[in-house]
Amino acid sequence: MQFKTLFTLSAICCLVLAIACTNQTATDKTIAKDSTGIEIPPPEVRGLDTAESCAKPTKYPNQDKPMALMMRQMADHAQKMKDLVLANKPITEQAFPFIRFHLVEPTDPDVLQPQFFENARLLQQSHQAMVKAPLAKQKEMYTAYINQCINCHQIYCSGPLKRIRKLTLDFKE
Ligand code: HEC
Repeated sequence: MQFKTLFTLSAICCLVLAIACTNQTATDKTIAKDSTGIEIPPPEVRGLDTAESCAKPTKYPNQDKPMALMMRQMADHAQKMKDLVLANKPITEQAFPFIRFHLVEPTDPDVLQPQFFENARLLQQSHQAMVKAPLAKQKEMYTAYINQCINCHQIYCSGPLKRIRKLTLDFKE
C-alpha cells in the first residue's frame, strides 16, 4: 500500500516535471512583442545569420556605420579602463561617459530588436554602477560591465567576441 502511494507520488512528480519542462521550451519559443504590440520573431526564426557574426571591420572601411564606430571607441575605452583597474586607479564618468550607441545607425538594422535595447539598458546600468562605485569595488564592477558586452555580443554580433574577451581582467594569452 505504502509502496503504491510512493509510486503514484513519484509518477505524478515526473508528470509535473515533464509538463513544466515542455512549457519552458514553449515559452522560450514565444514570439516577442515590442512596445507597440508588433510581434517580433526571435533571431533564429528569422535566420539573422548576418547579425550573428556582424561587423567585418576592414572589409568596407569607408562605409562604417556610426554604431560600429562607437563600438570601436567603447572597446578603446574599455582597454583604458582595464589598465586603470589593474593599476588600482579610479574609472571616472568624466573620462568615460556612457556612449549612446543604441541610438545610432547600425550596419545591420535587423539587430534593432527589443532584446537588443534591453541589453543596451543593462550595459548602461552596469556602466553607472561602475563609475559610481568606490575604488575598492570598481574591479568587480568592471568585470560586470564587460560581461554585459559579452552578453549582447553572444546574441547579436559574435565576430568581435575574441577581442572583447581580451578586455576581461583574467584574460591570459
Ligand atoms: C546591446 C548590444 C551590444 C552591447 C551591449 C555591446 N555591443 Fe558591441 N556591437 C554590437 C553590434 C550590434 C555591433 C555591430 C555594429 C555595427 O556594425 O554597426 C557591435 C560591434 C562591436 C565591435 C566591432 C566594431 C567594428 O566594426 O570594428 C566591437 C569591437 C564591439 N562591438 C565591442 C563592444 C564592447 C567593448 C562592448 C562593451 C563595452 C560592447 N561592444 C557592447 C552590439 C553590442
